[in-house]
Amino acid sequence: MNLAIENLRWGQYLAWMADMKAAYIKAPGPATEILYGDLEVPVPQKSEVLIRVGAVSVNPIDTYLRSGNVPMELPMPYIIGCDVAGTVEAVGPEVARFRSGDRVWGSNQGLLGRQGTTAEFVCVDETWLYPTPSNVTDASAAAMSLVGITAHLGLVHRGQLQAGETVFVNGGSGGVGSAVVQMAKCLGAAKVITTAGSEEKAETCRLLGADHVILYRQENVLLEIQSQAPDGVDFWWETVREPQLDRAVTALARNGRIIVMAGRDARSEVPIGPFYAKGCSLLGFVMFMTPAEVQRRAAEEIYRWLAEGRLVPRIDRELSFSAAAQAHSIQEGSTVGCDGSLQGKIVLVP
Ligand SMILES: NC(=O)c1ccc[n+]([C@@H]2O[C@H](COP(=O)([O-])OP(=O)(O)OC[C@H]3O[C@@H](n4cnc5c(N)ncnc54)[C@H](OP(=O)(O)O)[C@@H]3O)[C@@H](O)[C@H]2O)c1
Repeated sequence: MNLAIENLRWGQYLAWMADMKAAYIKAPGPATEILYGDLEVPVPQKSEVLIRVGAVSVNPIDTYLRSGNVPMELPMPYIIGCDVAGTVEAVGPEVARFRSGDRVWGSNQGLLGRQGTTAEFVCVDETWLYPTPSNVTDASAAAMSLVGITAHLGLVHRGQLQAGETVFVNGGSGGVGSAVVQMAKCLGAAKVITTAGSEEKAETCRLLGADHVILYRQENVLLEIQSQAPDGVDFWWETVREPQLDRAVTALARNGRIIVMAGRDARSEVPIGPFYAKGCSLLGFVMFMTPAEVQRRAAEEIYRWLAEGRLVPRIDRELSFSAAAQAHSIQEGSTVGCDGSLQGKIVLVP
């Protein structure tokens, strides 16, 4: 019966909605090459869900894929964007977890051959989708998607953060860093120390739960950490693209862990003596290479924290899909150019 209703709804789409607006590219290149125009509404196959998109968010990886700096096989035309939140409009015949009308969020699209999300309608395999809490907007769900799963994977799956540990986040005002700061507190970290590029951003980090914020443009980061954590930090999360691991190893406590997840071309010196003598670990990971079932476990806890209001994404601005090129150039200026222009995520809406 449900399937019949879905088919009926889908029939309506075929009749009424053959085209949709999307932001896409025809070949990798600069942000100015992003086009905004009509593409065909996709048809959900097998275990795919057709989503009426409410919001997507912009991540640095979107800009690397668009520019070709991270080469990946892309379907052409390639719709930009990894994150999505919206409402299920129709489902493929094998979909088991969702039905039309459900609100969903997810990430991992636009990657590894999959089509991206900045379109009025997208088809996403249900493997990559999770329910949206009723009290959370699509903009918030989209803004927390990739960065939230990344933060959870690093803290829990890779780093095995324990309650009572001290955490340092280099870049707590950024997309990933602001999620790490909040989640570390949700997971029971005793103290969270982080950095920010301005007093305004430092205040935001404090509101997110940071116990101490270091102004990295003005203060000596290592000395500040050592004064805040005289026995060392248990967990160092590095979000900057040129990590200084020498400093991290110096600041670590016994059995300290360092998470690295940015800076593909970065090189860094590691002081080997203190590293092994203190029993330290250096852990790296890529969110979108992590198996779907591991990501789903992260998403379940994110659902709970979002619903409880303990996890709140930082949204810098909301723009329309038609301003996707502008959004990419702002994101590049902030993440790659370090111009400090963003204070959170850019959300794009249809
Ligand atoms: N491996 C993965 O799975 C994965 C997943 C997500 C993201 N990433 C990568 O992780 C990186 C961060 O992503 P994001 O979305 O968080 O980017 P973002 O929102 O642009 O944040 C960048 C952060 O870096 C801070 N920063 C810049 N220079 C700094 C410095 N010298 N010292 C301390 N902090 C500094 C910025 O602080 P201010 O703005 O306060 O100056 C900002 O908080 C990107 O390269 C992205 O591609 C990897």
